[in-house]
Amino acid sequence: MSDLFSSPEWEALVAHRPALAATNLRKLFADDPTRGTSFSIETNGLYLDYSKQLVTAETMNLLVAVAEAAGVEAHRDAMFAGEAINNTEGRAVLHTALRQPAGATVEVDGQNVVADVQATLARMREFAEAVRSGSWVGFSGEPIRTIINIGIGGSDLGPVMCAQALRPDMADGLTLNFVSNIDGADLAAALATADPASTLIVVSSKTFGTIETLTNARYARDWIIGAFGDEEAVPKHFVAVSTNEEKVAAFGIDTNNMFGFWDWVGGRYSVDSAIGLSLMIGIGPEAFDEFLAGFHDIDEHFRTAPLAQNAPVIMALLGVWYRNVWDYRSHAVLPYANDLARFPAYLQQLDMESNGKQVTRSGEPVAVETGPVVWGEPGTNGQHAFYQLIHQGTSVIPADFIGFAKPRHEYDEHHKILLANLFAQTEALAMGKTADEVRAEGVAEELVNHKVFPGNRPTTTLLAESLTPRVVGQLIALYEHKVFCQGVIWDINSFDQWGVELGKVLATNILSELTSDDPAAAAVAAGHDSSTCELIRRVS
Ligand code: F6P
Repeated sequence: MSDLFSSPEWEALVAHRPALAATNLRKLFADDPTRGTSFSIETNGLYLDYSKQLVTAETMNLLVAVAEAAGVEAHRDAMFAGEAINNTEGRAVLHTALRQPAGATVEVDGQNVVADVQATLARMREFAEAVRSGSWVGFSGEPIRTIINIGIGGSDLGPVMCAQALRPDMADGLTLNFVSNIDGADLAAALATADPASTLIVVSSKTFGTIETLTNARYARDWIIGAFGDEEAVPKHFVAVSTNEEKVAAFGIDTNNMFGFWDWVGGRYSVDSAIGLSLMIGIGPEAFDEFLAGFHDIDEHFRTAPLAQNAPVIMALLGVWYRNVWDYRSHAVLPYANDLARFPAYLQQLDMESNGKQVTRSGEPVAVETGPVVWGEPGTNGQHAFYQLIHQGTSVIPADFIGFAKPRHEYDEHHKILLANLFAQTEALAMGKTADEVRAEGVAEELVNHKVFPGNRPTTTLLAESLTPRVVGQLIALYEHKVFCQGVIWDINSFDQWGVELGKVLATNILSELTSDDPAAAAVAAGHDSSTCELIRRVS
């Protein structure tokens, strides 16, 4: 077990809490007129304002000392160097190699993986251009107008989130749809509006063994074959993205139509691999290159900036401060950009699948709490739904607000109202409203307590110029590295996901009972608990 949590650095951090409990954000801002800028950093056009966090300069020093004691820098360097830091799966963790510029060298087992990445990117570009230009045609000679990406988890959330975030970059006349759920309603909705003659199905699955994806892909394949009455149509309408060539071939997709990646790319870290193929077709190879450049911007910042001026490190340390020292259990991500509507869902997988762990890298019980519940919705919609609880509820919920100086639409007045709301929310959360201030407004005494805002509720504001492909890449990399640093500090493996396995095994068993002649009897015979038996009986 890590001895970080009995170290002087950790103890000093914990002992520092009363100093912050004795003050508040109002006082901290009143005492330091420069606070708004001194607790901020800017990198590659991203501005991170953490002045509305419950920290002082001393807090930040203590947090950075914890990061140093945890060996964040050495772990970071080991990740970038391709060491097998995913110890429970014996794998390197090299999503950073996916966005290295051509010509860079990162070796895994003596192989320069950047050359492999670039070779795949070249094939993706060629294919994407062929689809976009109409030179790739379907079985009956029609150009492709609809792309359906079939995948789930990391093989869906990244592309779907980015496709929405980058709507203004989408090619005219191309529709991108995403099917993930094994609820047939998802596939039915996508196929209902698609014309098989002009539809390309991208089956995305790292393992090519995920039941949801394979089932949806099988039915989509039948849909294509049924439309043309000819199996020969499949190669013109199906491509696969996977690490598993054998299974792709076994499924019936020509491996010439397969775009590969590698076991050192985790599913939730894979949108910048071939898993981004549907996105690349939609936004074009040039915009996809910009997207990758955005990731690389932040990789370089993370790799080289001192810990105290390192944006993902600071975000990680603030999370540790609240999760471990203040016992705040959830973390909200609130983009003030409607096109980032799926960003919180994307971050849920990134953060919660990575850091929702109960044992250390060596398999001992963790010494402290690990990942928080991550959630969120775009502003201003959330303001009219759950912000009440963030302002006046009994739980403190640290939040990241994300905003953009310039919109990518023509409605400037909308954008000013949007930004005004973003800034108003973080100010209200930090400063609150005292009973005296409420009274001074002439509020009747019996309503005063109802109208008091406690304030002192911590937020970070991330501001960028505009929601471009490069900025989307930057934002993802920022959170990837934040999650990484927290995993190092908590001494957990952020790159495995054993916690998803049990449910998959049980579902396979229950499926065989549901499809038997007598599901209720099969359930009892299988020895399920009485609740599960009754539920199975009721649907049979
Ligand atoms: O069940 C969780 C998971 O393994 C994720 O980690 C992964 O992103 C998702 O399933 C999909 O896996 P695949 O890309 O192999 O279909």
